[in-house]
Amino acid sequence: MSNTAKVELDGKVYEFPCVVGSENEKGIDISTLRAKTGYITLDDGYANTGSCKSSITYIDGEKGILRYRGIPIEELAEKASFVEVAYLLIMNKLPNASELRRFSDLLTRNEMIHEDMKVHFEGFPSTSHPMAILSAMINAASCFWQGLIDTDSDENFEIQAARLISQVRTIAAFSYRKSRGLPIIYPKPFYRYTANFLHMMFSEPYQDYEMDPEAIRALDMIFILHADHEQNCSTSTVRMVASSHSNLFASAAAGVCALWGARHGGANQAVIEMLQDILKSGDDGSRFMEEIKNKKTGKRLMGFGHRVYKNYDPRAKIIKQICDDLLHNLHMGDPLLDIARRLEEKALNDPYFIERKLYPNVDFYSGIIMRAIGIPLEMFTVIFAIGRMPGWIANYKEVRDSASKIYRPRQIYVGNTLTSCPTINERS
Ligand code: ACO
Repeated sequence: MSNTAKVELDGKVYEFPCVVGSENEKGIDISTLRAKTGYITLDDGYANTGSCKSSITYIDGEKGILRYRGIPIEELAEKASFVEVAYLLIMNKLPNASELRRFSDLLTRNEMIHEDMKVHFEGFPSTSHPMAILSAMINAASCFWQGLIDTDSDENFEIQAARLISQVRTIAAFSYRKSRGLPIIYPKPFYRYTANFLHMMFSEPYQDYEMDPEAIRALDMIFILHADHEQNCSTSTVRMVASSHSNLFASAAAGVCALWGARHGGANQAVIEMLQDILKSGDDGSRFMEEIKNKKTGKRLMGFGHRVYKNYDPRAKIIKQICDDLLHNLHMGDPLLDIARRLEEKALNDPYFIERKLYPNVDFYSGIIMRAIGIPLEMFTVIFAIGRMPGWIANYKEVRDSASKIYRPRQIYVGNTLTSCPTINERS
């Protein structure tokens, strides 16, 4: 017999059905709560709220498990490319050889942005953060391809999805080149996804960027590890916007804005800034750790802690290994890596972090990899956005394909009760 939850309110008992997911996650379906009782739930930060049923990504934060469409992240990191993972998330299957050829071909055919869009890059001051440019330009793309606004047919959707995945990287590279006063480099159709991005970032009109396979693979891995993470802040934002039937590009642009913040995607940039500050101050990390623990400065150990993982983030394990391998293979050292390792060791043995179950998250080591590849600090969160695009698209599609209502939470109002409007002379 299926479980029900009983709630007693004002002397009356109400029953609500329980729902169980395919991995035995349990929830109480309270969709009739307000209609039956007049009450709503209050859950600041949504930590106990399931906003949807989803079949894209599964996380068990206690056990440190992450799976895309059922496949463990460790296996995908070993056996698949970012483009294959993008296909998996959006189409719900890993592509076979001919599907992969077709999808890669779609990405290539859609890699160029409309030539007239280039003029928009001129309008941004050179000090602009690339995340601002990225969100603005993704949204602006719908002005150049009217078809973007219609993503209803499945065929059209596949083209729009491919266009977005492909062009986010072109826009990202163009915004970087513009911000540095460098000439724009067009994509080359024979490069694969990640190599093409590095080419657009670092080639010069007179000289192609020398591709290092280790660097390409490391960046491809970063994209894979960031590709989806169920109902995080930016993905929930994408779903929220999609639920009002906004188009795919508008929904993704909103996702970029949500990702920007330092408590979300902006953490990878914040980690490097934190490590640079520690290095500059001559501290070995001990003073900084004390500052964090006494909480007076409000500082946090960036790259540590996660709303869902109360164990080692499985992505952090993989990324730490990639970081060690890359620096070793490139014969590079990085003083920031030494500080990061020391901080991690201190934190993992410190009661403050142990009691609060704070472990390294995906951002703790990703910045050191990007520095080694030569990606500038202000582009770190943009890299995250490129990686997260397939997850946003898959979530957009899930909302579009379901009979989901518009997302519209309620609130408990705590402001003034009825107050009359004084004239200007009556106001204090
Ligand atoms: N350093 C020091 N203390 C921390 C940290 C941290 N990184 N993270 C959480 N805490 C402490 C809080 O101060 C709080 O302590 P208290 O109980 O004494 O008040 C306790 O741990 C719980 O913290 P919350 O903020 O309630 O935890 P929440 O689940 O809301 O936050 C978050 C998760 C935002 C990721 C948080 O851990 C954080 O700010 N981390 C640093 C930023 C970061 O790395 N973000 C990237 C997340 S991964 C991603 O978006 C890809």
